[in-house]
Amino acid sequence: MRTHSCGEVNEKDIGSTITIVGWTNKWRDHGGVVFIDLRDRSGIVQIVFSPEIDAEIHKAAHKIRNEFVIQVEGDVRERPEGTVNLSIPTGKVEVVVKNLTILNECKPLPFMVDDETDASESLRYRYRYLDLRRPVIQKNLIIRHRAVRAIRNYLDSSDFLDIETPVLTKSTPEGARDYLVPSRTNPGQFFALPQSPQIFKQILMVSGLERYYQIVRCFRDEDLRADRQPEFTQVDLEMSFVKREDVMAVVEDMILRVFKDTNVIEHTEPFQHLTHDAAMEKYGSDKPDLRFGLELRNVSDIVKDSSFKVFLDTVSNGGIVKGLNAKGLAGYSRKDLDDLTKEVQGFGAKGLAWMKVKAAIESPIAKFFPEETLKALVERFEAEEGDLLLFVADKEDVANDCLARLRNEMGRRLDLIKDGVYKFAWITDFPLFEWNEDEKRYEAMHHPFTAPMEEDREKFFSIDPVGAIHELPLRSEIRAQAYDIVLNGYEIGGGSIRIHDKKMQDRMFQLLNISPEEATLKFGFLLEALEYGAPPHGGLALGLDRLVMIMTGAKSIRDVIAFPKTQKAVCPLSNAPSEVDDKQLQELGIKLDIVE
Ligand code: AMO
Ligand code: AMP
Repeated sequence: MRTHSCGEVNEKDIGSTITIVGWTNKWRDHGGVVFIDLRDRSGIVQIVFSPEIDAEIHKAAHKIRNEFVIQVEGDVRERPEGTVNLSIPTGKVEVVVKNLTILNECKPLPFMVDDETDASESLRYRYRYLDLRRPVIQKNLIIRHRAVRAIRNYLDSSDFLDIETPVLTKSTPEGARDYLVPSRTNPGQFFALPQSPQIFKQILMVSGLERYYQIVRCFRDEDLRADRQPEFTQVDLEMSFVKREDVMAVVEDMILRVFKDTNVIEHTEPFQHLTHDAAMEKYGSDKPDLRFGLELRNVSDIVKDSSFKVFLDTVSNGGIVKGLNAKGLAGYSRKDLDDLTKEVQGFGAKGLAWMKVKAAIESPIAKFFPEETLKALVERFEAEEGDLLLFVADKEDVANDCLARLRNEMGRRLDLIKDGVYKFAWITDFPLFEWNEDEKRYEAMHHPFTAPMEEDREKFFSIDPVGAIHELPLRSEIRAQAYDIVLNGYEIGGGSIRIHDKKMQDRMFQLLNISPEEATLKFGFLLEALEYGAPPHGGLALGLDRLVMIMTGAKSIRDVIAFPKTQKAVCPLSNAPSEVDDKQLQELGIKLDIVE
């Protein structure tokens, strides 16, 4: 139906007659001449309806409204002096219409199809087909497509096989809530949608497939955030006969290829490497944004030589005092500092102590600190006149979490976070176990199939699982052969070397207080497979949505997913989830008794 795409019409076409199709992006009447910005996927071109050229067609142009679909035949000409628009690639030309066909009409719009929109998310998702016409979102989907293509090309050339795993399956061990699907043929029984293909990809290694990958939908019923959807896409892979360095090398190489092949960046520096301990120490987080410094410093040792009760009590109760140097912000007013304190209290801190570094230290708590101690603090933060020191005293995890968030906030305020900069890091040597305070028990920090570090093997086998509570410190010392990829403050992927022998896997369940019966019930098929010649293996999964979000500069993964769910995990377009017929329930043998 066309000879050209709108976005490709240019000076070379001047003088020729072309046919184009598209949507009416903007309609204006200037002194009797009608101008329309015609839009298709490739871009926008201006078309002109002049009464002098064809009175009939000029009249017909008045019937066109926003988002009408039209086909026009016309002559490409240079735009007159002073009307050139250099902000679009077609801005030097226009098409003078000789023939017009209205292909379809459009109802009055609920919101304008424009890159900038103030339409609410629920309205945008209710009319997602209109929302997806916005060029910014189309650009995101195009970059996503290119990223997927680059991933497939890379993995194919590295001998990975694309193998599908079941979606109707059994609960998988990623620790979120499952989405369940009732089985009609087995009344009272349910499938779980996979939180990841973890178990099946390990079984594929037992089967001798050696290198597996899949770009796969995963389902997790968790509370949603800007970087979390109930269904999301992983680039999932698994390899046999590898050490963690091998997996990391493949993934790093693949990601750099993806950035290059999507034209996001040509070169990146190699990924940084940080142990989990170092990341927590320097940034208070296992997913630090490394685009800026503002490193945290532990000052528990220094503040012991003060008489500030809050700090002293915290340290003597096993907590820590840690802080950061907000460079150059000594000019903050009392109100600025009160507001900042409230913000940090919102993160969970009890308070925020501050010191302005001037000729003398200015701070309501300075009086509790001997001169020498103040000097030691200034040195620890490498502070200069004009700086502002901020401190949080609390249990280690609380202090770290609050300061990590404060660090991001100060990074923003100091304008240290630049667009178009990509800082990758591997975080390694994670603890194998993580204490769950709510349930008062240890959990696997990654998942229960993750192997301990070779160096910690002896500890792993020597802990008395029954005396576990007495050996909590010992247990938290065991590190895992696990690794995460962090990009600009987001965890974009994670994986591990797996346990491939049954003895070690049994031991793992024992240390997690999972009984052999429970383990068999949940993961029996994997445990059994491990007994039939399982090769050493390991892998990783990337969060594709998060990766593309960062590559495109989108604020939320919802902007890189064609049909996302809202914050309440619903789809306003299709109205899912929804109630079902009594007949359907009957067939499933289900009777509803909704408890509020
Ligand atoms: P993990 O649970 O770390 O590992 O998931 C891998 C990556 O998936 C992304 N991700 C999400 N993205 C959007 N919405 C969500 N709700 C969501 N949850 C996770 C993150 C995360 O880093 N089977 C293991 C991998 C392995 O060990 O090989 C796994 O699923 O970017
Ligand atoms: P107070 O002695 O409670 O008046 O607190 C004195 C200063 O210390 C105030 O600026 C508080 O915000 C700050 N502060 C109180 N508790 C903490 C804490 N746990 N960590 C850091 N600063 C705190």
